[in-house]
Amino acid sequence: MLEFCASILAADFARLGQDVGAAEAAGVDVFHIDVMDGHFVPTISFGPLVARALRGVTAKPLDVHLMVEVPQQFVPELAAIGVDRISVHREVPGGPDAALAAIHAAGLKAGLVLNPETPVEAAEPYLPLCDQILLMTVHPGRGGQAYLPGSSEKIAAMRALLQKAGSPAIIQVDGGLNAKTLPEARAAGADSFIMGSAVFGGDIRRNLQQLRQAAGMP
Ligand code: DX5
Ligand code: ZN
Repeated sequence: MLEFCASILAADFARLGQDVGAAEAAGVDVFHIDVMDGHFVPTISFGPLVARALRGVTAKPLDVHLMVEVPQQFVPELAAIGVDRISVHREVPGGPDAALAAIHAAGLKAGLVLNPETPVEAAEPYLPLCDQILLMTVHPGRGGQAYLPGSSEKIAAMRALLQKAGSPAIIQVDGGLNAKTLPEARAAGADSFIMGSAVFGGDIRRNLQQLRQAAGMP
């Protein structure tokens, strides 16, 4: 599987609708929405209101990445807005159990996110509850960082773990992905590429052309 997810964190917020329209026209498959609360990560980004605005301008799947201390709090509102997938961090205080249960109860696809320093084995108990595993390939909190060394080895280890467990979950990667790093992450076994600056920095159409080429797509 291969999909391109555009992280709107790197879009121009003053013209978000136009940027999203351009990314969709250029071939983006999914829009990724980074919700940050200033506690779980030091940054505050935006909340469900922005997901609601996006739901009004695109029919593409909306993939919400909750970088917040109490993720289950946001699930009912996001479900009512009509997002498609919600991912929560393994590292949240109290664990991800309540949030994963809430996501399933709402009938949405659920993801588990691992920070760079969290080993792949930490996902094992949650695999039956996960449609996707999101591996952070930078430290969460801001866009525009470099793909961390060791990320590709971790993707390969997660691929092996999913295979061993018989899990159909897809592997997403998030942070520092671009035309240079994407081929390596893809070769290691990632399915879904979350990209902010590589999509919205500069000419969106040309960016997508380069990314498709890097992924070996026609
Ligand atoms: C970082 C976010 C990412 C971020 C990626 O905490 O989870 O989704 O937008 O940005 P780039 O692609 O610029 O590294
Ligand atoms: Zn993200």
